[in-house]
Amino acid sequence: MSTLITNIGELVINDPAGSFGSLTGAALIIDGGQIAWTGLAGRAPAADDIVDARGRAVLPGFVDSHAHLVFAGERGAEFAARMAGQPYTAGGIAATVAATRAASDVTLRAGLRRLADEMVRQGTTTFECKSGYGLTVQDEARSVMLAAEVTPEVTYLGAHVVPPEFGRDTAAYLDLVCGPMLDACAPRAKWIDVFCEKDAFSEDESAAVLAAGRARGLLPRVHANQLGPGPGVRVAVQAGAASADHCTFLTAADVDLLASSATVATLLPGVEFSCRQPYPDARRLLSAGVTVAIATDCNPGSCFTSSMALCVALAVREMGMTTQEAVWSATAGGARALRRTDVGHLGVGARADLLMLDAPSHTYLAYRPGVPLTAAVWREGRLAAARPQVLGG
Ligand code: NIG
Ligand code: FE
Repeated sequence: MSTLITNIGELVINDPAGSFGSLTGAALIIDGGQIAWTGLAGRAPAADDIVDARGRAVLPGFVDSHAHLVFAGERGAEFAARMAGQPYTAGGIAATVAATRAASDVTLRAGLRRLADEMVRQGTTTFECKSGYGLTVQDEARSVMLAAEVTPEVTYLGAHVVPPEFGRDTAAYLDLVCGPMLDACAPRAKWIDVFCEKDAFSEDESAAVLAAGRARGLLPRVHANQLGPGPGVRVAVQAGAASADHCTFLTAADVDLLASSATVATLLPGVEFSCRQPYPDARRLLSAGVTVAIATDCNPGSCFTSSMALCVALAVREMGMTTQEAVWSATAGGARALRRTDVGHLGVGARADLLMLDAPSHTYLAYRPGVPLTAAVWREGRLAAARPQVLGG
């Protein structure tokens, strides 16, 4: 069963290796869950079914390469306190850890599915999901197990913070993280992550966590340079990490390291928005030749948004990116950060993950900030969300 989507005002195809690319007055054909053809609408071959886009834009679905979705409780009061002048610290994580440990599987699964659905309805067709609010062998294992129910991009983040019952005995906790906890989580995870920060884990500790994960077949990624300058980017690049995430406080040496490596800089502007911090300078990274991804970091503490559209708007307005760069980073860039070649672009053979906007061009994601622009979403060629009046002939 093939479907032709025609009369597309702007079709964002993307070059996964390089840059934004688009066609106006375009069409595409989905077949077998993949993109089978793209081109000018007037030249489209026949298909079993036709969807008239009526001039709307079609983009690759967003690839959100950084999210913490397995948790219980919320921290709205902590956010309000921040807006009243308190700084963000890693300390709030303990509150979510306590709520998560106390929650049943049913509660955790329901919260996770609600957020996963919320993402898809906003055009996110691939997302990563971390553990990191369990921090016992049993609670990390169930976090990873639940995450694996909703995405193949599962990250083991036992090294989020040292939980309170370990006091200052970081070494004892890391024995657990790199031993029995890793054994319990590795079979269902693809990635290992560590929060490399003054309030969390040091350079040597972070490198040891990533090495232990690697030995179990997990691929490294790092929470780096979020709260201040530090060794996070260096740890990430030296470990050959797919991505160094946050990159809010970078030295010139960090930028050079990223530029000379295959490590993607994943920027999370929702965090700077929600923590009232200075934004990273994406322009500086792009000028140096660094590959930049944009993701939400959706979590109950530092940033509780699942909206990639908001992150694109912030990247454009606050981080010096063009609209084309921001959309590439939120799609193809995210795919690079997850080492995926089948998503983030709409070349022939790509997964048919599509976002149709109720707008004629990708620019509207930043031009009309805060406005729900999702007209329809397809995942692997199947309609996953649609406004009632959009596809009705
Ligand atoms: O990516 N930095 C560490 N972890 C999360 C925040 C977790 C939380 O505050 O609950 C982050 O910002
Ligand atoms: Fe995070």
